[in-house]
Amino acid sequence: MPHSAFKFLLLLSAFSATLSSAAVLEARAAPDNTVSVTSTTNYCMIMPRNAHTNIGDSEQTGGMRSYCSASAHSSPSQGTLPGNFWRAREVAFKSGNGKNGKKYAQLTGCINASSLDRLNPRDDGGQYDSSGGAGGRGNPQGSACAGYSHYVELVEPSANRACIRCCNDAADCPTGKDTQGCPAVISGNYFNCG
Ligand SMILES: *[C@@H]1O[C@H](CO)[C@@H](O)[C@H](O)[C@H]1NC(C)=O
Repeated sequence: MPHSAFKFLLLLSAFSATLSSAAVLEARAAPDNTVSVTSTTNYCMIMPRNAHTNIGDSEQTGGMRSYCSASAHSSPSQGTLPGNFWRAREVAFKSGNGKNGKKYAQLTGCINASSLDRLNPRDDGGQYDSSGGAGGRGNPQGSACAGYSHYVELVEPSANRACIRCCNDAADCPTGKDTQGCPAVISGNYFNCG
């Protein structure tokens, strides 16, 4: 083939490689900075990286990482959540279309705060999210939910309650109610802890 046509092909393939890697980077974060919500037994949530830490105190660079159920665990950089993290039969999975018709998935329910040594059972808790915090870059910064554009998560050890919702519409994952507790942020089933 003529030299110029070959150069054009090379350029074209370099361009498409750039495009596809940019798309992948936009949709994903590192495994230890990624949450997921697939079912009551397949999920990852952000937790304090260090033991016995209040959620609020964990909210600093390097203070948080993803912890996953055994079946969702996919990288050594992630922690593993114990099988009894949610109290027996007190966790609900729900998915559907939100306020403006876009997809969401969530877990709500009661946790056993003593089951995970990252938590301090007396901590009133706090929020992690993909789109709040300084400059709207999330807390942890750059964190993301697999397959969705946004997420919001609250962990409330002293109330034995937690919740996480991943959504494609920011309106379904409000980040401005972080002191109001799970039921105000994510409507759902909170069993006897709610
Ligand atoms: C909570 O977790 C602790 C530590 O794993 C365990 O000893 C305790 O039995 C659990 N409590 C409930 C109600 O599941």
